[in-house]
Amino acid sequence: MEHFQDKVVYQIYPKSFFDSNGDGLGDLPGVTAKLDYLRDLGVDYLWLTPFFPSPQRDNGYDVADYRAVDPRFGTMQDLETLIREADRRGIGLMLDMVFNHTSTEHAWFRRALAGEKKYQDYYLFREGGPDKPPTNWVSKFGGPAWQYVPALGKWYLHLFDVTQADLNWENPAVRAELAEILRFWKGKGIKGFRFDVVNLISKPAAFVDDDRGDGRRFYTDGRNVHRYLQELVAAGGIGGMITVGEMSSTTLENCIGYTDPANHELTMTFSFHHLKVDYKNGDKWALMPPDRSQLKALFARWQEGMQAGNGWNALFWCNHDQPRAVSRFGDEGRYWKESAKMLGAAIHLMRGTPYIYQGEELGMTNAHFTAISQYRDVESLNYYRILQQQGETEAQALETLARRSRDNGRTPMQWDAGPNAGFTTGTPWIGVADTGKTIHAAAEVGDPDSVYSFYKRLIALRKERRVIQSGRIAFLFPDNPDLLAYRRWDAQDELLVLCNLTGHTVPVALPGGWQNAGVLLGNYPDAAPGKTLRPYEVLALER
Ligand code: GLC
Repeated sequence: MEHFQDKVVYQIYPKSFFDSNGDGLGDLPGVTAKLDYLRDLGVDYLWLTPFFPSPQRDNGYDVADYRAVDPRFGTMQDLETLIREADRRGIGLMLDMVFNHTSTEHAWFRRALAGEKKYQDYYLFREGGPDKPPTNWVSKFGGPAWQYVPALGKWYLHLFDVTQADLNWENPAVRAELAEILRFWKGKGIKGFRFDVVNLISKPAAFVDDDRGDGRRFYTDGRNVHRYLQELVAAGGIGGMITVGEMSSTTLENCIGYTDPANHELTMTFSFHHLKVDYKNGDKWALMPPDRSQLKALFARWQEGMQAGNGWNALFWCNHDQPRAVSRFGDEGRYWKESAKMLGAAIHLMRGTPYIYQGEELGMTNAHFTAISQYRDVESLNYYRILQQQGETEAQALETLARRSRDNGRTPMQWDAGPNAGFTTGTPWIGVADTGKTIHAAAEVGDPDSVYSFYKRLIALRKERRVIQSGRIAFLFPDNPDLLAYRRWDAQDELLVLCNLTGHTVPVALPGGWQNAGVLLGNYPDAAPGKTLRPYEVLALER
């Protein structure tokens, strides 16, 4: 197994990427239409979030059929065209496998509800009376994690929405079905997979109340998870392919286990600790400015720790579940361009495989929605209610959503200054961010100083420099919260990457021998080694 060290992945949320038929929803032909844009950017793989038949209660993460295309996104033929056309441009497709749960509309769950014992064993049904769920666990989207089915006199587990029923991985028949799905897509020419919340698949032998939390300690990185992943990879025949697991509340030790090539599990993992540094007391819905010391400490721990264990990180700031990085960690007003570039360079030059989420390469910002009617996400709508029940005013709840909602990452891709940012000729399923008229691909592609051109350079640099792909990494200045700094080196080359995480000038004491080093990359026109870094400046030096 290899780590795909020279590759860069681009994440597409098809619903919001490009609408080819004017119905307001992005679709697969829309992705095909933009392949030249993606090839010119230089990315190697496209991870497409789910486009399978789904009631869309959780925007496609509630899958009703793993082997088909939802008509609202196109046809199987459209997908085959996309695979072929991407391949012609040297781009591979990665599909998003939601294997922790299915939609309650999936045929398996329907047959379970109809009383078929075989399919009840595909899920986590427990006997019980209607008054008391089997445990006190809490769903990740709010409310209890169990739902009662009166006709069966049983409860079923759903760690996410009530329409997302958790699969019973203890059942070998379930594991065999899932491996067959991988074989099916591999046969279609799919080159890799992203596995949704895959560290939650292994549940405990007995279900008991959690007197200390929401239940996650019983099923996160659960007892059989490594064995199940090894089996899935072997039985699915995907050992040589690029794979990434989304790991919820995971540990470094487990992520080493998931990605050490010797274990034949996954190529790399997404972990989220660095995206919780602005959660007050760990609560996503309690606002706080990012804690930069913690951010730096987490990068150092995960980068150096994965290196020591021969593991491999997926590098990312943004995805369809996260607010936009420039709005969150940068300054989207005064230093929009500088901070968008700095954030990109900060992770692209680290050890791991970078992921770019659609529009990040343009510096797309949060949506800045001001009314609840603008939101679509089930989690946001639930928490709008919960926050007010907990005593927030409506205005406060809206302010919290404006900062934390997943919809910030789901607004339409901004292609040009036309209506709906060029995303659709119809009415978009979700509104365009308020920066749609100024931040868009048409303005950036031909501009050598744009955020887009900077990302293009970052991708090209990874291909040119082995030291970026496979060099070692060590972090510097642990006690300075303003300055994220690391060294990369191999037998030939050495890089020093310095990032000012703030909007003010910060002093830097360059380590010995770097005063006359060459500039590999910077986000200010006259970049040079010196005694200070300007607001949000990034400087990559080489020697
Ligand atoms: C992952 C997905 C998210 C989804 C959840 C449940 O976190 O990224 O969008 O809601 O899993 O499938």
